[in-house]
Order: sequence, then C-alpha cells, then structure tokens
Amino acid sequence: MKHGMIVAMNNDYSDQNTELAGLYPAHLDTVRQRHDHALDKAGASHAVIFSGSSRYVFLDDMAYTFKPNAHFVSWLPLLDLPLSYIVYTPGEVPRLIYYQPRDYWHVVPGEPEGYWTGQFDIRVVHSIEEVAAHLPGDRQRCILIGEINDAAHAFGIDRVNPTTALNILHYGRGIKTGYELACMRLSTRRAVAGHLAAAAAFREGKAEFDIHRAYCQAVSHTDSELPYGNIIALNEHSAVLHYTHLDRQPPRQLRSFLIDAGAQVHGYAADITRTYAHKDSRFAELIARLDELQLRVVQRVQAGIDYVELHIETHRLLSEVLVDAKLARGSAETLVETGVTAAFLPHGLGHLLGIQVHDVGGHMQGESGAVIDPPSGHPYLRLTRVLEENMTLTIEPGLYVIDMLLDKLRDTAAEDHVLWDGVEWLRPFGGIRIEDNVRVLANGRENLTRDAFSAAA
Ligand code: GLY
Ligand code: MN
Ligand code: MN
Repeated sequence: MKHGMIVAMNNDYSDQNTELAGLYPAHLDTVRQRHDHALDKAGASHAVIFSGSSRYVFLDDMAYTFKPNAHFVSWLPLLDLPLSYIVYTPGEVPRLIYYQPRDYWHVVPGEPEGYWTGQFDIRVVHSIEEVAAHLPGDRQRCILIGEINDAAHAFGIDRVNPTTALNILHYGRGIKTGYELACMRLSTRRAVAGHLAAAAAFREGKAEFDIHRAYCQAVSHTDSELPYGNIIALNEHSAVLHYTHLDRQPPRQLRSFLIDAGAQVHGYAADITRTYAHKDSRFAELIARLDELQLRVVQRVQAGIDYVELHIETHRLLSEVLVDAKLARGSAETLVETGVTAAFLPHGLGHLLGIQVHDVGGHMQGESGAVIDPPSGHPYLRLTRVLEENMTLTIEPGLYVIDMLLDKLRDTAAEDHVLWDGVEWLRPFGGIRIEDNVRVLANGRENLTRDAFSAAA
C-alpha cells in the first residue's frame, strides 16, 4: 500500500469469524463443484466472475450505491470490491484479481484480509489494464458471469452469462451450505436487535423516520447496507406492501406498527416482519390470530412439502381468521375461490432467501431451467418448488385492507362474503404481516427468526 491512500476499515459486525472460518472451506468446495458442473455443461474451461462496476446518475458524476454481483459474493465475503474478478479453473486454486485503485478521492479497498484469503491466489492490481494479464490466455475457453456495462470489462470474453451455466448455479444456490446458514443466523440475530429497538421506539411514540434511525443504529447498517429498504409503517401505512416513505412526524393518533426490516452479514440477508398494536385489544387479538396461523404454516415446513400447496393451505387458514374476526363469512372453499382471501392477502406466502432477499431459483423445476409457474390467481408467489433440505425461505402471511383490491369484489359473487363493517373497522390499522426465516430440514425445520428472538429475550 502506498502512503496517502485511505483504505476501508473493517466494519464487519460479525463476532463469529472463527466459526465461519471453520465452515468456509467446505462452502468453497460446494461452490467449486457447482462451477465444475456448470463449466462442463457449458463446454468451457474457465469461469470468470466479475464483481461489477459502479453505475452513474444520468449526466452526473455521482455513482449509485455499488451492489455486487451475487455470484461473486457466493465465493467471497467481499461486498464492496468493484472491478474485481474471480478466475476459476477446475482443479486449480481459484484466483482473485483484487482491484485496489490508486485514488485519493475515495476510500479504497484495504489489503485482502480474513479467513478466505488462504483459499485464493490473490493478485492485487491498481489499474484496470493490469487485469488482462491475470485472465486465462484463451478467452474462447472462458465464460464470464456478471453484469457488463462497459465492453472493456469483458476483456474479449464473448460468452457472457450463458444460460446453461447460470441455470445450474441458480438452482444450486437454492440449497444453503453450513457456512451460509451460519451467516444467516448471524444476520437474523442482527436484524432482531434492530426489531427490538424499533419496537421500543414505537412504544415511545416516535415517528417512522426516528424508528428507522433507531433500527439502523441497532443493526449498525447505513441505509445502503440494508438488504432492502426498511418498511416502517404506522397505522394505515401498513397496508402499502412496500411502504418505504418515512414520515418525519408521528401520527396524531397511534394505532398500529408494521415493520419489515432485515440485516445482512457477509452479504447474506435476514428478512423479518412483525406487527404491533398500540392499545386496541381487537386489533391485538387479530395479530395474535395471524401469529398462530403463521406458526401453523411454519410447522408444515419440511423436505418434500410442495410450497404451492402450503401457499394455498395458508389461504384456507386465513379464511377461518377472516370469519372469526368478522371480516368475512362463508366456507373456506368459497372465500378462497371467490378471491376474498386473495384480496386480503395479495402477495405470496414467501420466497427463497440468501444473498438476494428474493433469492434466485424460486420457480426452477431443475437445473435445466424448466419453470414451475405460480398457480392461477396467485401470480406473485415467488417460490413454487418442492422443499428440499437446507433451503432457506420466508413464511410471511399477511392480512390488509387494500381498497383497490377489495373494491373489485363489489358486484361479484364475493361481495356478500365480505363483512364491510369489519373492513371499515380494520382500515385505520392498515394491516398485519408476520414473517420468519426458516431452514428446511429432512424431518422438520429450523426457525432462525423465532430462535433469535428467544435468544434475545
Ligand atoms: N421485505 C420484502 C419481502 O418480505 O419480501
Ligand atoms: Mn420482508
Ligand atoms: Mn420476504
């Protein structure tokens, strides 16, 4: 390192790097095997995985927050290393071309350090031109995996993101390694600390903006380090599924709080939702009912279960909650078939979770790329696979007053099954969602989220 360059400090929150260090070599073996297979099927000899490049605002010299290629992160816990490359040739030690620009305008990546370094042949470069010398000479035998916004970053590799290889890698990422599960337990613990701080801020009557700040402080994330924009919603805002507006003032009357907020460790996300009542006991009772429903659905998670069936089963269970809460009347079949439950719960039961919050491969039937479509009437279901051991996924049923959807039930067979007085009552509370992160076991499940809340209590 030359004098005068300020390098990034390690703001890594993980206090468990010894555990991760022990698990990492086996993880890397799995990643290597997936790439061996992908290269074989793609008829190529080398995989070149590009971390990505910064994107700039139109007509401006301001860059958007850098988001690394998830495939790059699957190899290494390096989230802020643009213009770097992994070169993998089966049977050889993977090479990392580590780009450390000479730059006095910005903080630059520090020296490579951490439990992963011993597994790589690391070549630190200080200019893009230097990269070429570290790539395999025969570019025709390479595939490049990553987003190429500037052709110069492909260094003459023509085969960029070949579908055959990507399908294999995406399908494989559906199953988590021990290392990935350890990262996700840590990110869950981190997010739970934020949820507890946010709940306390809500009890103190804070505005959404201030609850958000309490959350970020507790998880030690800047906004751009969060795996997704926090949903911090008071009262009727809870009915906006992806509400990310943050009111600066608290509402005059406080009724409810829905928080959907995550955290990450080494790029692996947690995605957790909780809902709280301020004082209203009828609303508190409805939250308790949905919590009970959510736990019943979680109890069904295990290898061999079809997630589509679980989603449909959730709608049947929801119909009972709607009837008991005087929001609807009719049999489960009627309420599901006429679209009443879908109007109250218009999103999917959940999704795969990993490096990406909505992780890749949720609709894949196999590594060939065949797709399992969501069932008719449920287009937003992001996971349609049969569950396998060590998948991690969310279970996130909800129940909302979304007038845009409920109004569509007027003048249909569903209209008489909605108890509109109940809807009037619920509207000012917005809605409820309860979301846990769950690992599939051969004969059961691990609820990462409930475990972390219990450990924190
Ligand atoms: N936070 C986004 C989701 O729950 O899917
Ligand atoms: Mn969520
Ligand atoms: Mn989710």
